[in-house]
Amino acid sequence: MVDTTQLKNELLENVSAAQDMKALEDVRVAALGKKGKITELMKSLSSLSVEEKKEMGKQLNILKTEIEAALDKQKAILEEKELNEKLAHEVIDVTLPIRPEVQGRIHPVSKIYEEVVAIFGQMGFDVAEGPDIEDQFHNFNALNTPANHPARQMQDTFYIKNLESDDFDDSYVVRTQTSSVQIRTMEKQRPPIRIIAPGRTYRSDYDATHTPMFHQVEGLVIDKNITMAHLKGCLYDFVKAFFELDELPVRYRPSYFPFTEPSAEMDIGCLKTKTELKIGAGNDWLEILGCGMVHPNVLKAGGIDPDEYQGFAFGVGLDRLAMLKYGIPDLRTFFESDVRWLKHYGFVPLDESSMTGGLSNNGGAQR
Ligand code: DAH
Repeated sequence: MVDTTQLKNELLENVSAAQDMKALEDVRVAALGKKGKITELMKSLSSLSVEEKKEMGKQLNILKTEIEAALDKQKAILEEKELNEKLAHEVIDVTLPIRPEVQGRIHPVSKIYEEVVAIFGQMGFDVAEGPDIEDQFHNFNALNTPANHPARQMQDTFYIKNLESDDFDDSYVVRTQTSSVQIRTMEKQRPPIRIIAPGRTYRSDYDATHTPMFHQVEGLVIDKNITMAHLKGCLYDFVKAFFELDELPVRYRPSYFPFTEPSAEMDIGCLKTKTELKIGAGNDWLEILGCGMVHPNVLKAGGIDPDEYQGFAFGVGLDRLAMLKYGIPDLRTFFESDVRWLKHYGFVPLDESSMTGGLSNNGGAQR
């Protein structure tokens, strides 16, 4: 019978002598490959007596396991060595300026989103969220818009069949308005509430100023002594900060929304010519957002006592804000994923929006 000790020492020596992956693989093949030394010995077992076979088989198995373990260990050592060598060569200087030809751009909607969050953030608002796929309770009913309410026709809703019910009232919707987050927030949080809810909304509509998916930001403030004066002051501060103007004429027109009473629309002063729209100057008005005092039925649906609390709410189209602020004429182009468009209208990624450092600071990428 062969003594495997010598073979073992020899193989272990070869393993630790292997200084790269190729050499290590050669050692493995020489020991365990088809014609390797251990493999050959295994094959020769058949010529031995039963007793010898048993003894030799056991020794060979132990040897095989030991060699495999040594190979694995050496492999790990070599891999680490290789990685360290690679890292030593691949030094990246993160302080170098970005090459302009490879620099990406921030989409105008993302930019506006950041700006709006920065403005309301400084006023002490939290950012709240809700799901894109909503039930009719949160999107309509709880917002004082029960089934068959005429206001449901104001929005071309995409319904989603509820697989568990044939009743149309149980179907889901892709939310038509971020107002649904008002209810979601009231369900989770007790007043005082001061949130904005930016996000995606959906309606079946398609032209230069409407796309089936668009963005809104909702605002909700609830406390014991909230009045229309708070609403006016808050939104006035918002539009001035947003358009980065010290003076901006505004007016509130009476309007109707089922979830607010009274309801209003806010207009900002502007100058409209055939070729230009100038915000803050001239004698024209531009509608910018919807708002109002939260309807008592909405507070009740959210589990809040309307005799104790009141509040105001507002809803703004984010894409529309982007179009106005950055002079983008067609909403559909926002979602065409054309890099040439993004290069033109997009923003430098490292310019952060803040109330202290500047909202749109350097303006668009090319501006
Ligand atoms: N949800 C309304 C819409 O999509 C916008 C809106 C108007 C939201 C008035 C409000 C509000 O919170 O008070 O047309």
